[in-house]
Amino acid sequence: MAAEPSGRAQWSSSLGFVLAAVGSAVGLGNMWRFSYLAAEHGGAVFVVLYIMLILLVGLPIMLAEFVVGRASKQSPVQAFIRLGGKAWRPVGYLCVISGFLILAYYGVIAGWVVRYTWDGLVTGFAGDAGAHFGRIAEGLDAIFLQVIFMAMTVGIVAAGVRGGIERAAVYLMPVLFAIVAGIAIYVAFLEGAAAGYREYLVPDFGALFNLEVFAAAASQAFFSLSLGMGALLTYASYLSRSDHLPRESMVIAGTDFAVAFVAGLMVFPIIFALGLGAVVGESTVGALFISLPTAFAEMGATGRVIGALFFIALFVGALTSAISLLEVVVSASIDGLGWSRLRAALVGGVAITIIGIPTALDLNWLTIYDSISGKVFLVLGGLLLSLFVGWRMKDPIAEAGRGAPGVRWLGFWRMWLRYVIPLILLLILYYSVPASIADVRGAIQQLRQPTEVVAPPVDPEALPVPLDEVPLPEGAGPPPDEAE
Ligand code: PHE
Repeated sequence: MAAEPSGRAQWSSSLGFVLAAVGSAVGLGNMWRFSYLAAEHGGAVFVVLYIMLILLVGLPIMLAEFVVGRASKQSPVQAFIRLGGKAWRPVGYLCVISGFLILAYYGVIAGWVVRYTWDGLVTGFAGDAGAHFGRIAEGLDAIFLQVIFMAMTVGIVAAGVRGGIERAAVYLMPVLFAIVAGIAIYVAFLEGAAAGYREYLVPDFGALFNLEVFAAAASQAFFSLSLGMGALLTYASYLSRSDHLPRESMVIAGTDFAVAFVAGLMVFPIIFALGLGAVVGESTVGALFISLPTAFAEMGATGRVIGALFFIALFVGALTSAISLLEVVVSASIDGLGWSRLRAALVGGVAITIIGIPTALDLNWLTIYDSISGKVFLVLGGLLLSLFVGWRMKDPIAEAGRGAPGVRWLGFWRMWLRYVIPLILLLILYYSVPASIADVRGAIQQLRQPTEVVAPPVDPEALPVPLDEVPLPEGAGPPPDEAE
């Protein structure tokens, strides 16, 4: 384990910090969720709305997290107490709880990614991806995969800030960039790629005035940039004083967006070149773990290579994000309870894995965890953080300006955190709290009637039922083809 004699761990360089933060940001959220949301919610219009939200909400909050982390040199709970007094302690707890909740299910999805990476490298992709997914996504297999992934995460976090987290980011992130860019270029030459681009980006201007779309873009921005739960705050607490935080925030947010955007350019053409577009509408999970692997299986040897690379990239993204989620919990235990890093990583990792087990047993739990944390907790965390930096913290402007001479808009930044962002986030919460409650209600109902689970692990031959074999209601006409 890295000995950090001066007390607190530190990054070895600014680049190490930036790559670690990019590693936190770039993850499962970018590689599929973004492009899926864009396709669902207005295509290019969504992309523009999303960029606006990153600029207007994401960047100012990212800078606020960095400033609180660097000024306090503490993990979330202690940071808020130190800079704002005991009354702010609950905000720190909210961060830790969000970290728990997100990593609990993130580890399960990442476990599936581990399995698909294995498939790509070792056994080849199953021809019937739907049935395959049904077998591994819920139950003992899923728990086994989750445990493997969480063990890797714990191992890296236990190895320390410099020796574990930074090193993983510095080696792994370039791999991810290269794979995503390479595949995106390759698929541009596939026949039918244009149909994929069209599906992804064709603008629908109705989306501009739709609160649902706005809230979806906002919660995606929080999730994708790792904001609202103290991950970037914690990373910034390992900084030296000299970093140019405003510039680094822009680099991190810009990279995160670029990866998400290019990932869409990679994924959609693959699916549409193989005529699998119809499956896309069903669920985010279905598209990533069913349609894409189906496409890879159909593409033969090339598909095997592309698919293996794709899941390696997805795995890298998931791992470097999970590390940052666990680090919030770990650093809070080190600073608050005086635990050693090893102990904190082990206890935190085991506890989070256990909390995640329900999501590995039933996908409805996954919906519940995801909706509460993504739609509500992160946005609420962002709201409280902007109020904190806007109103309570002493001289955040000076802290933000340290290492960044000549940045003139910091006064404006603070005003923005004070007045504008809280209003925007309240508006979003006004929509997303009831929406999240509805999600949870729906999922609980599904839990009670488990027959409707997305892909139940039953007779593999029967899954998924091809559309033209679905029995039609009486009088609806003969099934196509077989009639002849
Ligand atoms: N940003 C990560 C992703 O896009 C998820 C994440 C959220 C990580 C919050 C840390 C904190 O997958």
